[in-house]
Amino acid sequence: MCGIVGYCGHQQAEHVIIEGLRRLEYRGYDSAGLAVVADGSLHWAKKSGKLANLVSELESHRLPESTQGIGHTRWATHGAPTDTNAHPHLSADGKVAVVHNGIIENFATLKAELIAEGVTFVSDTDTEVAAHLLGRETAKGAGLAEAMGRVASRLAGAFTLVAVSADEPDVVVAARRNSPLVVGLGEGENFLASDVAAFIEHTRDALELGQDQVVTITPESVTVTDFEGRPSEARPYHVDWDLSAAEKQGHDWFMRKEIFEQPKAVADTLLGRWSDRGELVLDELRISPEELRRINKIVIVACGSSFYAGMVAKYAIEHWTRVACEVELASEFRYRDPIIDPMTLVVTISQSGETADTLMAIRHAREQQARVIAICNTNGATIPRESDAVIYTHAGPEIGVASTKGFLTQVVACYLLGLYLAQVRGMKYGDEVHAIVDELNSMPDKIQAVLDGIEPVYKLARKMAMSEDAVFFLGRHVGYPVALEGALKLKEIAYLHAEGFAAGELKHGPIAVIEQDTPVFVVVPPEGRDQLHDKVVSNIEEIRARGARTIVLAEEGDAAAESFADMVIPLPKCSTLLQPLVAAVPLQAFACELATAKGHDVDQPRNLAKSVTVE
Ligand code: F6R
Repeated sequence: MCGIVGYCGHQQAEHVIIEGLRRLEYRGYDSAGLAVVADGSLHWAKKSGKLANLVSELESHRLPESTQGIGHTRWATHGAPTDTNAHPHLSADGKVAVVHNGIIENFATLKAELIAEGVTFVSDTDTEVAAHLLGRETAKGAGLAEAMGRVASRLAGAFTLVAVSADEPDVVVAARRNSPLVVGLGEGENFLASDVAAFIEHTRDALELGQDQVVTITPESVTVTDFEGRPSEARPYHVDWDLSAAEKQGHDWFMRKEIFEQPKAVADTLLGRWSDRGELVLDELRISPEELRRINKIVIVACGSSFYAGMVAKYAIEHWTRVACEVELASEFRYRDPIIDPMTLVVTISQSGETADTLMAIRHAREQQARVIAICNTNGATIPRESDAVIYTHAGPEIGVASTKGFLTQVVACYLLGLYLAQVRGMKYGDEVHAIVDELNSMPDKIQAVLDGIEPVYKLARKMAMSEDAVFFLGRHVGYPVALEGALKLKEIAYLHAEGFAAGELKHGPIAVIEQDTPVFVVVPPEGRDQLHDKVVSNIEEIRARGARTIVLAEEGDAAAESFADMVIPLPKCSTLLQPLVAAVPLQAFACELATAKGHDVDQPRNLAKSVTVE
């Protein structure tokens, strides 16, 4: 939520910042702005709406050349998305400009204090408080870094602040708490950003900042301190993807590109996980096998699509390990006083690694002495840093707001964890687990096969684009979370009412909404296990009898499912537990094509932002 860029070096700051904001626009797109320092004064521009509006503004009102500046793309929290509320915000003396990501929870108290001192506020934002506080400190003689430390220690909540001062050429200062910030290390230039995508075309060397740190960049140096100004450590790392991964590469949307990247993303997540003896190796898991043997409960905590990945994982993990596994929405977790203790393994799932609800759940779990493993796609993010261990999904950057390859690789990483737990704890279903390991490695090809045959799904989506009818999704067992995920995709990018149901629950209420021609997608499990398949086929019959238009995702050659389907989307043969990896794909593609046909901005859907860094 909100993208932030800071630059100090030898290039034109305006250009570097606008390009950086372009790559961060998925984080928020309500308004955008930037400020540069030239000839001892601040110059700035800001505009409501997408970044394109700011770019036009800069074409008609040029800023002076400068090699030092800050920029922001906003997802509004306090104050409507207007020009005035757009960032940067300036101190009362006009000498300090600041951009902010997060929420300053005590802003009302601080605002009252500043108003009592005679400060006039021009915006409705919480951020303006930070601007005036910084100005008050620098007016008293503090340098910008010192002022930043003092101000940051007075703020409650989540924030990344990045500031420049008219009095300090070649310096950009930032502070962070509970909100993302990384440093890009260049040659004669340095960068600050919410994520590395903003500077990946200039450098792949980065510094991961810790909690409550202040960082000062100049063209030649990076200095990290705590809020009191004492030297502090930051972890250097190298980004393992390049600029091409952050570009659309000929696709109309990032989302579509990311859907098509899934065979590779899944293969990369599986890569290097097996020893020569065929044993699963999770080197990054810094929790000993003895500890993993002691745990008596697993709690998976996540939000949105990541939560649905956790729901899929529950079926597999409980089956393989025989350890009770709960799945919980992160936003609900800590507020209900969950029963967790040192014998509980908490698994958090987050593509961005910055989701505030999930982060707070981790802190709560660790306070109760539970061990926490994060499944995450973003190196250097807060969630893996604050967890005991991390399993990275190697999906590469996910830029489309709707998660696709993030979801699929999360399921894979959860499965790796489940298989590893089964391995260290002793397996009840040894043969089955070994077969799954082999089958997992064949999944990239099966996902590719689904993508190769996607055209009929696109055709259906284009046909349905004129309708505003609600769409329903049914599934059972691991097909149930897939149904929920299919519905979420359609809601978030096509703005259609879409609902996922457990197929077995239909008769307990939801079947009442089925009318003549109501479109219903049904995920049918493979034949031959626990009668699950036959039960879902019966569910299809029931809704068909009430007039539903049934779009059935079933294994190729499934005659029983086909006989009750208005349309069949064939899935490659795979075992039930792995079916989500192929069944989710047509649902993603359907939502993407339908939203495109409706003329929506698929990558930047209304009201949403990619990384939800506020609770
Ligand atoms: C849906 C979507 C969101 C995220 C959720 C969690 O397509 O993208 O529901 O899954 O906001 O985000 P992460 O995984 O970054 O914690």
